[in-house]
Amino acid sequence: MAVVTIVGAGVIGISWARLFGGAGWEVRMSDPRPDLQELVERELAGVPVTATADLASAAAGADFVQEAGPERIEIKEEMFAALAAHTGDDVVLASSSSSLLPSVIAQGNPAADRIVIGHPFNPPELMPLVEVVPGPRTATRTVDRAVEVYRALGKLPIRLKKEIPGFVGNRLQKVFNEQCAYLVQQGVIDVKELDELVRASLGLRWAVTGPFESGVLGGGPAGMRHLVEHVGSQLTFEDGSPDPARMGEVLDAVERAYGTGRPAYERLVELRDGRTRAVLDPLGWTNPSSDGGRQ
Ligand SMILES: NC(=O)c1ccc[n+]([C@@H]2O[C@H](COP(=O)([O-])OP(=O)(O)OC[C@H]3O[C@@H](n4cnc5c(N)ncnc54)[C@H](O)[C@@H]3O)[C@@H](O)[C@H]2O)c1
Repeated sequence: MAVVTIVGAGVIGISWARLFGGAGWEVRMSDPRPDLQELVERELAGVPVTATADLASAAAGADFVQEAGPERIEIKEEMFAALAAHTGDDVVLASSSSSLLPSVIAQGNPAADRIVIGHPFNPPELMPLVEVVPGPRTATRTVDRAVEVYRALGKLPIRLKKEIPGFVGNRLQKVFNEQCAYLVQQGVIDVKELDELVRASLGLRWAVTGPFESGVLGGGPAGMRHLVEHVGSQLTFEDGSPDPARMGEVLDAVERAYGTGRPAYERLVELRDGRTRAVLDPLGWTNPSSDGGRQ
C-alpha cells in the first residue's frame, strides 16, 4: 500500500486524508496539536490512518508528502527542512500553500528539486482542481509525479508555466473578494444577497463555462471581440477598493448572516458538501479519467 504523509491536520489536511485514504493510500498524519488523536478518531473514522506529533517518524517511508500546515513562511521552511531530511530522494514534497512561492519555501533546502506547490481548493476531497506550481529549481520529474498522483486521485491537476504569488486561483479570488467587501461597505448590498447574486449568476456560469468561454458566448456569433468592443467598452467605471480599517464591519455582517462556532460551521459544511456532490457527477467530475467536459 502506498504511503502518504500529510503534515498538518487542519481543515485542508483532514480533507486530503479522506481523499488519499479513500483512494487506497495508507495515511500518516503529523501535527503538534494536543487533540490530534481525538480529532483523527472523530474526523477520519474508517480511514487507514496513524497520527503523531513527530514529523520525522511520520515522514519516514513516505511515497508522497502533502504539507498542509500553517500559512507562515518560517513554519513552512522548518517543516520542509525536516521533510527533506527524513524522506527518500525520489519523494515529492508538495505544499498546499494558497499563495507562498515554491522558490521561497525551497530557499536553502537541499531537496529544492522535490518541492512543488499542490494547491487544492477547499475541500480537496470534493473540488476537482489542484494547481501544480513549480519553482525555478523544481525538477520536471517532481511536477510529472505530482500530476500523476493527483490525477490518480480523480483530481484535475493544472500545471502552471511558472510561479507567481497567489498562483492563478487566489489571484482571481483576491480581486473578486475585495470587490465583494467594497460593495458591502458601500451599503450597496447585504452579505447574504451578494452570495445569492453570485450563486445565481457568476457561480453557476463559471461552473459550466470559464470566463473566456463566457466572453465568446456573450458576444453571440461575432464572439468575444464583439462583446469587448460593445458592452466591454462601456465598463469604464472606477472599481473602488474596500477600506481595510472598516473590514471589521464586513466580518461582523458575515457573522450575523451565517453564525459562528462549530454548530454553524458543521451545518454550512453539510450544505456545501451536499450541493457540491450533487453537481460533480452531472458536470463530469466524478470519473477520474473524465476531463470535466473540457474540449
Ligand atoms: N483553508 C483553505 O480554504 C485553504 C485552501 C487551500 C489551501 N490552503 C492551504 O492549506 C494549508 C493549511 O490550511 P488550513 O486552512 O488547513 O489551516 P488550519 O489552520 O486549519 O490547519 C493548520 C494545521 O497545521 C498544524 N500545525 C501547526 N504547526 C505545525 C507543524 N510544525 N507541523 C505540522 N502541523 C502543524 C496546526 O496545528 C493546524 O492543525 C495552508 O498552507 C493554506 O494556505 C487552505
